[in-house]
Amino acid sequence: MKNYTEALDLIKQRKPQHGLPGTAYNDPVLYQQDLEHIWYKEWIFAGHTFELEKPGEYLTLQIGEYPVVVVRGKDGNVRAFHNACRHRGSKVCTEAKGKVAKLVCPYHKWTFELDGKLLYAGNMGSEFNPADHNLMPVHCEIVHSYIYVCVAQTAPDFEKFKSAVSPFIGPHYLEDCKVAFESNLVEKGNWKLVFENNRECYHCDGTHPELLCSYTELLSVQGLGGAEDPVFAEHCDTCEAAGLASRMVMDPNGQFRMTRIPLNPGASSYTMDGKPAVARRLDRSGVENIGALLYFNYPSTWNHFLGDHALSFRVLPAGPGETVVTTKWLVPKDAQEGVDYDIDRLTKVWIATNDQDRRLVEGTQIGVTSPAYVPGPYSSTIENGVCQFIDWYCDLMTKRLTEATSNRII
Ligand code: FES
Ligand SMILES: [Fe+2]
Repeated sequence: MKNYTEALDLIKQRKPQHGLPGTAYNDPVLYQQDLEHIWYKEWIFAGHTFELEKPGEYLTLQIGEYPVVVVRGKDGNVRAFHNACRHRGSKVCTEAKGKVAKLVCPYHKWTFELDGKLLYAGNMGSEFNPADHNLMPVHCEIVHSYIYVCVAQTAPDFEKFKSAVSPFIGPHYLEDCKVAFESNLVEKGNWKLVFENNRECYHCDGTHPELLCSYTELLSVQGLGGAEDPVFAEHCDTCEAAGLASRMVMDPNGQFRMTRIPLNPGASSYTMDGKPAVARRLDRSGVENIGALLYFNYPSTWNHFLGDHALSFRVLPAGPGETVVTTKWLVPKDAQEGVDYDIDRLTKVWIATNDQDRRLVEGTQIGVTSPAYVPGPYSSTIENGVCQFIDWYCDLMTKRLTEATSNRII
């Protein structure tokens, strides 16, 4: 595949209610188009504010070709910068996480303030103006501890998502959380396969015995409407009466969705016995079993919030056939490991589930790469979520590739 037009043609080959052609998952040119038209234009989930509690604490992430650093300043504000030195381009912060007094480039020791200002550059002569070489900012927004960044020149509106998600996640007091455990899984599969797999539970039976101890997918919350389940409706009513937004909200463009679902009867957490893993609570609603709040925001995150802990998932593409999935188990800040929770009990279900999903994604990557692969149809009863994701992807890429093609011709 060589250009925008061919990328557009490939996406147009997709039949309604069917998967994408196999090339969409391994072609380097289409991967580059995914980066340019989605990953470099949308808000990407970076991490949580409580991971950067003190000034100088930072975290780094790689969005396609863009290394980014997110750091808390002396004034308490969280900012994001391109993690490329303004001298000769070295990565400034080389670790995944850390704490520094200043941002010092390891190459020739140019030294930047935590707000990105260049403070020191040795031997650069009297003509050199440090103010011309500050770190380049990256757009950065926060909603209830979720730090989102955008590397576009002009970022899209964040308010629409922020105001929609706030009533759902606000009552979980994530600002008072800490990361109890983090896993980083490298999956040998295209980022779209990772999200497709997340958006259906058709595969859950026979794959996820641990998850199914507490979780059953409700087909009505996949994102395309459908009849409302009476147990779901009652659960929503109870939670909403206690101040927890619960009824499904779907972005009109299909990019994000929030909904609060009941878990299996008697289960209130993702544990093998369904009982809480943490002896503290995140919500203060007074409802004994709030089930699970689910929120996704394409292309980079899906999340589960329970009464006793929460899980954030971050998806970052690392190549046409490679994706990094970062999972964080979030518990109340004052919960003590070994006293209020046992780390193995807390993490068992999703460590197993993530690994089972990784294997499915990797097997699919191999299968769709076969020249013999022809995309099959989605189930209209149980795969509406995955179809919704692919519809969102195709609509957005068609729009942006068409714009890019016409701009080029002009
Ligand atoms: S590349 Fe950073 S100081 Fe030279
Ligand atoms: Fe799964």
